Amino acid sequence: MVVKHILSDYDLSKSEIAEIIKLSEEIKAEPPKYRDALKGRVLIMLFELASLRTRVSFDAGMAQLGGHAIFYDVKGGGFTRGEELEDGVKVLSRYADCIMARVLKQEDIERIGRASTVPVINGMTNMFHPCQNLADLLTIREKKKRFEGLKIAYVGDGGCNTAYSTMIGCSSVGMKVTIVCPDNPRYAPKEEWLEKVKAHSGRTVEVSRDPIKGVQDADVIYTDVWVSAGMEEEKMTRMNAFPPFQVNSKLVSHAKPDCIIMHCLPAHRGLEITSEVMDSPNSVVFDQAENRMHAQKGLLYWLINLKK
Ligand code: CP
Repeated sequence: MVVKHILSDYDLSKSEIAEIIKLSEEIKAEPPKYRDALKGRVLIMLFELASLRTRVSFDAGMAQLGGHAIFYDVKGGGFTRGEELEDGVKVLSRYADCIMARVLKQEDIERIGRASTVPVINGMTNMFHPCQNLADLLTIREKKKRFEGLKIAYVGDGGCNTAYSTMIGCSSVGMKVTIVCPDNPRYAPKEEWLEKVKAHSGRTVEVSRDPIKGVQDADVIYTDVWVSAGMEEEKMTRMNAFPPFQVNSKLVSHAKPDCIIMHCLPAHRGLEITSEVMDSPNSVVFDQAENRMHAQKGLLYWLINLKK
């Protein structure tokens, strides 16, 4: 039996994203109808890196669907007493209906996927953050009522996991994606990413080095931290490179007047985004954070009940 895993955004086609978003909208609109949708089901959550939103939203989402979530710390990349990752995952597959893992290396989530006999969800690695993108798409559809033809400008570190997931997921649903980043290959999408996104979605991602031109006509401006997890040693060079890419009122004034502002959080106010923008009427960052839970409820229901 082939088990469906979400190890990266490439594991979801346009039609599968549409199914999950529709389901998430239905579950969000009618919570009582889905109260027992995952009754008796178990999600195991493996965390190598710290989390607020991912951990709590998966836990709360399972509880709201009548299921149960178990947290297990895999700091250092493995299980206790030196047990091989694959052996531990084979055991967990016997206890659970789904495994969600936040691990530093993409190769580790792929190892988990190969060893697991139940669906595995990537809860963020160094390369991808697919659950974040599903929540982002749910939020964009709620606010803008469509995807096709909208422009999203991702401003900041174009070489990070959230940027890559945004490129894949937003292009897949028909949005125009512009990455607005410093002129340094370290902070830009890799050429192979751009080619792979085009092959997957049929759409070309633009890369702009000019913040003002990059956000022109944007329906959505998205930003994220300048120093992602695992990049702490680069903090000083990043702090020098990114200030021209701060999302502030002046930059936002060059986008469409009804442009929504997104941030996957945690935010560093005064760095990648100002408080004035983050607390402005155009900001949807807390609806976006709430939608982590709703989108993941849709994803869990889809994987455990519909894809088994
Ligand atoms: N956006 C996000 O993944 O948040 P956490 O790191 O708190 O899970």
